[in-house]
Amino acid sequence: FSGFTGAGYPKEFPEALAAVIDAHHNKGEEFRIGVWTGASTAPELDGALARTGGISYRAPYQSDPDMRTAINNGTSFYQDIHLSHMGPQVSQGFLGKLNLAVIEASAITEDGDVVPSSSIGMNRTYLEHADKVIIEVNSWQSEDLYGMHDVYYPIGALPPNRVPLPIQNAGDRIGDKVMKIDADKVIAIIETNDPDRNTPFKPLDDDSRAIAGNLLDFLGAEVKAGRLPKNLLPLQSGVGNIANAVLAGLLEGPFENLTSYTEVIQDGMVDLLDSGKLTVASATAFSLSPKAAERMNDNAADYAQKIILRPQDVSNHPEAIRRMGVIACNGMIEADIYGNVNSTHVMGSRMQNGIGGSGDFTRNGWISSFVTPSTAKGGAISCIVPMVNHVDHTEHDVQMLITEQGLADLRGLAPRQRAQAIIDNCAHPDFKEPLREYVKLAEKKANGMHTPHDLATALGWHVRFLETGTMAQ
Ligand code: COA
Repeated sequence: FSGFTGAGYPKEFPEALAAVIDAHHNKGEEFRIGVWTGASTAPELDGALARTGGISYRAPYQSDPDMRTAINNGTSFYQDIHLSHMGPQVSQGFLGKLNLAVIEASAITEDGDVVPSSSIGMNRTYLEHADKVIIEVNSWQSEDLYGMHDVYYPIGALPPNRVPLPIQNAGDRIGDKVMKIDADKVIAIIETNDPDRNTPFKPLDDDSRAIAGNLLDFLGAEVKAGRLPKNLLPLQSGVGNIANAVLAGLLEGPFENLTSYTEVIQDGMVDLLDSGKLTVASATAFSLSPKAAERMNDNAADYAQKIILRPQDVSNHPEAIRRMGVIACNGMIEADIYGNVNSTHVMGSRMQNGIGGSGDFTRNGWISSFVTPSTAKGGAISCIVPMVNHVDHTEHDVQMLITEQGLADLRGLAPRQRAQAIIDNCAHPDFKEPLREYVKLAEKKANGMHTPHDLATALGWHVRFLETGTMAQ
């Protein structure tokens, strides 16, 4: 299926398929499918199909409550793949055979090419590899999206036939406005007129404002120190409310002529484009509130001058991210005192969403930062812990941790120095002492070793707060 962060997913077919699956299950017949997308979709896709119990396998990213339940109660296998790795894995057949691709389009041209809608994600790859194709043409999507997309075909080449990705600047256009399709594969076209998921963002609270402020102060100091140009470097901003708050902070901040090379365009980025502070935004999808989506649809022709939507294996390409020196900022569940980050798991076993593109940007960014409030679940749980219960981003890749308490700049610091910086700057006052006690104990037990840990205490930390906190689920 097409679809990325609740944008550009098919709106009608998945629920019809869910009804067919239910009918088979009611007759006692097995009917299970694998579901691959660009990234997260919406209740009409992930939700409807997950509720049938008929998803045997899901990749590469999701954030739907019913899909999450199916993954965590053992109904569905889930592979949490870096978004830039999905294309090569599909092309090489590791996920199995692609029988059917169901792709949303904003139009089909007279030449029979497909104009993508509010996301591109994996569509180029799926159209190439699927045996059969269904296109949903959604007239809710603006016709003026034509010209916003940039579909680069050589990116599908596998080694040793890969060529350099010719992107020097976030605004470079290198591909086609449309996607090619083999008309013989198309078995149906469905006309729809339905909005994208369009979840409104939470209003900014004090914590998200403080987190954004800490990051912006840091960026200002980097400019002053001559380590960043005045207009910074291309920005990548992760999903969620805090990432959106950072963008809102930039709106009031001193930086001009900004650019963005990112995965998702949220409301804050559209506001920055409107203000003239951001000159160009490159991504693979929108993730807009209903109001911002309306603005986009009304003014898509203008936005197409400043926004480029690319396939996810280009938007998340390590080579482009590294070359341009992207400033990466992503959300996390927790970080440990040495800088390892868990973006995906609660209590070591329960999948929340997935790694998405955070690894693509963190590993290759010029500045790689993670943001979170210092506590979760009403203050019962510290998001800074002795040892993360699952590692998505290692201490070798993470350069900056930011909470509402402050910012720990980990560049140039050895593990024991990192522990001090993270506890002093990022931990909530209620948890600073327990963390310092842990460090003392670990240093005693590890007797001068490189990364001091006391495993029994470190692994017991989460359980201790599970017992005292509210995290029973
Ligand atoms: N321990 C236990 N639970 C925690 C926690 C912790 N340390 N920190 C957060 N949580 C819980 C929250 O309470 C919330 O639970 P709920 O759904 O029951 O309310 C849930 O995790 C999500 O937290 P929230 O504060 O709403 O986070 P968010 O919207 O800022 O998202 C991530 C944070 C990590 C889930 C999100 O950024 C993500 O999915 N990241 C991975 C993918 C990614 O980075 N993509 C961007 C690449 S471009």
